Amino acid sequence: MKKKLVVFSGAGISAESGLRTFRDSDGLWEEYNVMDVATPEAWQKDMALVLEFYNKRRVQILEANPNPAHHAVKLLEEKYDVTVITQNIDDLHERAGSSHVVHLHGNIRFARSTNPSDADRLYPIKGNHLNPGDKCPEGFQLRPHVVWFGEEVPLLPVAQKIVERADYLIISGTSLTVYPAANLIYAANYKCKKYLVDPGSIHVTDIENLSFIKEKASLGLPKLAEMLLKEEVING
Ligand code: APR
Repeated sequence: MKKKLVVFSGAGISAESGLRTFRDSDGLWEEYNVMDVATPEAWQKDMALVLEFYNKRRVQILEANPNPAHHAVKLLEEKYDVTVITQNIDDLHERAGSSHVVHLHGNIRFARSTNPSDADRLYPIKGNHLNPGDKCPEGFQLRPHVVWFGEEVPLLPVAQKIVERADYLIISGTSLTVYPAANLIYAANYKCKKYLVDPGSIHVTDIENLSFIKEKASLGLPKLAEMLLKEEVING
């Protein structure tokens, strides 16, 4: 049986595809105030501004392509039972071919209804814009399928179970500053082999079996994948 490998990714894994991260010096939260575009309050106050913010993201995501980091994650499926848990709302893991992707913070290619009794159904967005007046069949305004600050993360318990069972955990491209997502890494078993691939200085405490690879994802992940693919051949 294949060993279970979980990749926990954040904005940095898509940085080299041309998509800006949130908290680096050129990050999105330098240009925008998160409270104005990524909260339920922002939606109530100025729906058009929120939709426009995500329309811009969607256009950029559709123009972007997976980079060697996404491809390396896919390659690991040759020998491992891989699940990607991503905080990203882009679909670059899927476009690189990854088979199992859990989008903790949603997926920008989809909309949801603002009808509270239909909050879970996903509506694929045709084209790259979601506009004021775009409604579900019951006549409720559609909103981006994105988890905003202050909202629950519905897939957290699912992700937690997946991490608990992992034999390997690769963390890449996340500042590990946004909760509850960042807590996921603590769900891993002490025996699970953990790797953190990031060019920045990430502060992680009390994690056993962790190797820090201080490199950009497009370099660090292909190298790590090559090493892990060999390791599994030797051990398996
Ligand atoms: N390769 C790998 N990592 C990189 C690269 C790169 N080329 N470039 C930058 N990084 C790293 C940074 O060092 C940083 O640790 O990516 C991380 C980006 O951190 P954030 O901008 O905080 O992104 P993320 O952790 O994904 O944010 C979490 O916050 O704004 C919300 O909902 C949004 O899902 C997002 C969440």
